[in-house]
Amino acid sequence: MQHYHNIEIQSKYWPPVTNYHKTRQSISLSNFSKIKIEEQKKYLNSLHQDEKWIITHKLLSDIFAYYYGYRDRCLYNQTDSKEESLILQSKCVLIEFYINNILNIQYNLIASESDAISNISYIINQNSGINHDFFEYIENEMPLDAFIEFLKLEVCRNEIVDDEVALLTVGLQGHMKSVIASNLWDECGNGRLHKFHTYWLRLLISQLNIYDDIINYRETEKPWFANISSNTFNSLLTTPAYKMRAYGHFLTTEAWVNQHFTKVINGLKRVGLYHQDISIYFDAHIGIDTRHTAEILHAINVQSPRLNNYELNEIIYGSKIAEKSGSNSYDLLLKYFKNKYKGQKND
Ligand SMILES: [Fe+2]
Ligand SMILES: [Fe+2]
Repeated sequence: MQHYHNIEIQSKYWPPVTNYHKTRQSISLSNFSKIKIEEQKKYLNSLHQDEKWIITHKLLSDIFAYYYGYRDRCLYNQTDSKEESLILQSKCVLIEFYINNILNIQYNLIASESDAISNISYIINQNSGINHDFFEYIENEMPLDAFIEFLKLEVCRNEIVDDEVALLTVGLQGHMKSVIASNLWDECGNGRLHKFHTYWLRLLISQLNIYDDIINYRETEKPWFANISSNTFNSLLTTPAYKMRAYGHFLTTEAWVNQHFTKVINGLKRVGLYHQDISIYFDAHIGIDTRHTAEILHAINVQSPRLNNYELNEIIYGSKIAEKSGSNSYDLLLKYFKNKYKGQKND
């Protein structure tokens, strides 16, 4: 059992991204952000359904990579009010288009408080994301090389969850703020570096020796649909009016972890990757996120002052957004992995 962080493992920049380089900034984002709002909307509406998904997500990925201020996209001490306001404008247009036009989920208003609360507990246990076929594939079929690629994607998806949870605390109050703050404290290892959840990702990377690989993979190979979950959550997190949707989204994805990670662990064992430093991230989260799910749900039940119907319905809507975007991303990932690694032995 490790009691302190390993200096070598802690020594690399987190998340695994390159140094800033102006020429690496996305050309498509700078082109898109230069056109007027009405033209941006017209352009997005003119795309075919598949292209709507691809282009919106590629642009959102660039925007959120910039938004968090890590070394690949930002230079400390340098601002550009014109460029930044154009990015912010593009962000608002893209998020509105994504939520209302692409996802376009029906809003079924639930009138009573008790019905809405029981609906929340129902949908987090019954939705198309929980038992998605992608995780059956990971458990029983995914070949070794594909598994290593999948682990790279898991690092990319989870590398800044602590920042995302930090954003989720903003604007909440009472019990809801308390459980999300406690979740953030867990993400940050209750103050101990070797218990940061990202430290467990560092262990995984170090064991597989893939730090430089991830930097390269992110820039050259990573498929756009691997960003759907992060983009969707960040769209809700960074839009003040979607505060409750973000909470519902987070509740839903936390509730998936137990089932998903249990299958990932079984898959790791099957392909011979079940090493403590690789599995710890998944093993630990099965327990932690089951507790987090219960706490996040409980906070809604005991919240004071009571949540009004509008807020409860927004939580439900956020949960549906997580379900639809998550399932869509898993559909595409399943197709991608099956196709890319077909013919390879699975154990
Ligand atoms: Fe975590
Ligand atoms: Fe969690």
